[in-house]
Amino acid sequence: MNQDVALQVFFELHSNLPREGPGNLAATRRALSFIPPLPETASILDLGCGPGMQTLHLASLTVGHITAIDIHQPYLDQLSVTIAAQGLGDRITVANQDMGNLDWPDHSVDLIWAEGSAYILEFANALRQWRSLLKPGGHLAVSEVSWLRPNPSDAARQFWQEEYPGMQTVSKNLVIAQAAGYFPLAHFVLPEAAWWDHYYTPLSERLVALRETYANNEDAIAVIDLHDREIDLYRHHSHDYGYVFYILKVDEHYDPNGSFPA
Ligand SMILES: C[S@@+](CC[C@H](N)C(=O)[O-])C[C@H]1O[C@@H](n2cnc3c(N)ncnc32)[C@H](O)[C@@H]1O
Repeated sequence: MNQDVALQVFFELHSNLPREGPGNLAATRRALSFIPPLPETASILDLGCGPGMQTLHLASLTVGHITAIDIHQPYLDQLSVTIAAQGLGDRITVANQDMGNLDWPDHSVDLIWAEGSAYILEFANALRQWRSLLKPGGHLAVSEVSWLRPNPSDAARQFWQEEYPGMQTVSKNLVIAQAAGYFPLAHFVLPEAAWWDHYYTPLSERLVALRETYANNEDAIAVIDLHDREIDLYRHHSHDYGYVFYILKVDEHYDPNGSFPA
């Protein structure tokens, strides 16, 4: 496959969408409801913010300062336009940084928010890395695609084995969170509407348009087909897997050298 074409089509598919993963205001609000009110001086990081729908929701639901971090500058540009239009410049700063290599002081952050981005670093690794940034008693709210049933369909198993073999069950992710030094406060499955309203529906419309544009380009059609397969899989197998919000608190009694069940 011509990787340049694949990348170009990927970014054409994924530019100027409202979101880059499942989520909505109700889910962000529900996740936040498990976390005690933050002080006005709170430092909040939104990691892998993408176009920043959840950043704006967070700003409307919290006090304190949010730093929205991503490595794809066009998403940050898209978010910056909205921040300026809504007069939120004093509440939100955008930063082009690698969330896997953050140049941020240890124990300086009250809340880390990560909707649909932890998988990029692998869930366990992301949780371990980000913990050192949090203040004692700080919180991490992270949404992660997770198996909802111990025996998912073959179709779902095969697709995710190729696309995200590190995907775990909810109970395994809770064990991973504890082993990484967090106390799980709550978790819940995002409703199906959170996949469709701001993500799969606008993406599907984009796929139809680009399929026509790239009708004679095999490499482009392969990228489009993969997206269609993913959406179709969710349409038929949403009971097998879903996005789960995990709301975690730094466990101050955590002993990194202690043993923990695998
Ligand atoms: C699945 S999207 C989720 C975006 C957004 N949180 C949402 O729910 O709409 C993952 C985001 O992580 C960003 N990303 C990927 N690797 C990254 C890295 N190493 N550091 C920071 N952001 C990264 C991508 O550019 C993308 O915006």
